[in-house]
Amino acid sequence: MTNNELRGIILAGGKGTRLYPLTKVTNKHLLPVGREPMLYNPIKRMIEAGIKEICIVTSTEHMGDIVNLLGSGDELGVDFTYRVQEKPGGIAQALALTENFANGGKILIILGDNITKGSIKHYVDDFKKQEEGAMILLKEVGDPERYGVAAFDEKNSITNIEEKTSNPKSSFAVIGIYMYDFSVYDIIKNQRPSERGEMEITDVNNEYIKRGKMNTRVYEEAWMDAGTFESLEMAAKMLTD
Ligand code: G1P
Repeated sequence: MTNNELRGIILAGGKGTRLYPLTKVTNKHLLPVGREPMLYNPIKRMIEAGIKEICIVTSTEHMGDIVNLLGSGDELGVDFTYRVQEKPGGIAQALALTENFANGGKILIILGDNITKGSIKHYVDDFKKQEEGAMILLKEVGDPERYGVAAFDEKNSITNIEEKTSNPKSSFAVIGIYMYDFSVYDIIKNQRPSERGEMEITDVNNEYIKRGKMNTRVYEEAWMDAGTFESLEMAAKMLTD
């Protein structure tokens, strides 16, 4: 594999409890956002960015439905691989299941409920040029306490990310689009679960920051985490506007 190849991973697990009873029998990522199932949005973003191999991680419960929807990928001109997350253990734990899929190369991860209005191709292209390390995308929001939030030093370099804090250090949320080199899998192996018992993606990102290997970009178009009733409606509107 050349340094320029990048594989895509879409994390589509979780119970979607904030959307109950919509998610009582259906996986959150299959719910409609406008005219399409939620999952189509991250898939399209990956295809636009030139990614041809995409791994979807979801729970045992909903894997059948997701495979029924997406199939092999032939129709879209991509190759889908599937991984089962048997128990919910956090985003980083789901990511750990994709080590073989990543095949020693760089990866782009999109959380399946992160809906974006426009292409992410130029960020992906920038990351391809990056020798090593990671890149995350930020977006200024009015409710940073709902997300991972970046803190910066006086030179505007990222110093830390705090996960869902009541006292956010900035209004820049870390959106659920992450680009990593293959060392991410070693980082996760050395990681411990957080107080809420999950392997946190924020801890992974903080490790890259600590190593001085994290780049950030501000995502310029509209973005929405469609995990709540309100944001699900807003995401549909955002895509049709
Ligand atoms: C996750 C991440 C958080 C990030 C958010 C973006 O939170 O833990 O850092 O800001 O996705 O959507 P979740 O929505 O899974 O609670």
